[in-house]
Amino acid sequence: MADITVRPMTSDDAGRVLAIYQAGLDAGNASFETTAPTWTAFDAAKLPDHRLVAVDADDTVLGWVAVAPTSSRPVYAGVVEHSVYVDPAAQGRGVARLLLDALIASTEAAGIWTIQSGVFPDNTASLTPHQRAGFRIIGTRERVGWHHGRWRDVVLLERRSPRI
Ligand SMILES: CC(C)(COP(=O)(O)OP(=O)(O)OC[C@H]1O[C@@H](n2cnc3c(N)ncnc32)[C@H](O)[C@@H]1OP(=O)(O)O)[C@@H](O)C(=O)NCCC(=O)NCCS
Repeated sequence: MADITVRPMTSDDAGRVLAIYQAGLDAGNASFETTAPTWTAFDAAKLPDHRLVAVDADDTVLGWVAVAPTSSRPVYAGVVEHSVYVDPAAQGRGVARLLLDALIASTEAAGIWTIQSGVFPDNTASLTPHQRAGFRIIGTRERVGWHHGRWRDVVLLERRSPRI
């Protein structure tokens, strides 16, 4: 872990970011989506100020985190939805936790008060680092969508900043 650091994502990271995204989707437990977006679509959807990558000592991207707005209504201006993906070869080493902690610092510094996400209930590899980072389970939405031949529930997670 000592040699893994977090820095802002740039467009030069696009190839690695989208490859890690696709690897997570291919594993079948990350999202209802099956195909990673183009960089143009990713770039349009994610807020520019809170895109982070975890890199090793050679600056190879091991994982990323980014957020999208949840609503255009002013009252929700401080509520974002995040995605976090880690290269399968780098999983289980605390990279997601590092990214979540950095995302919390980055968003809190910008006055964002809630980070939320939806996770499949059997994605324990995701639920564990989120709960350790201070996210709570709001509840479970039942049979939200059809995915790889079955209806799947979605656990809603949120972290409400105690500072804002
Ligand atoms: C979910 C994901 C981002 C986690 O990344 P990671 O870097 O492996 O996570 P971390 O190592 O920081 O934390 C994992 C924690 O969960 C535990 N964990 C890891 N895999 C686990 C598993 N399969 N079952 C149960 N616990 C698991 C680890 O022991 C660790 O806990 P610890 O802090 O007590 O050691 C990664 O698995 C991933 O990219 N998956 C595909 C995409 C995805 O599902 N993204 C989340 C969408 S909401």
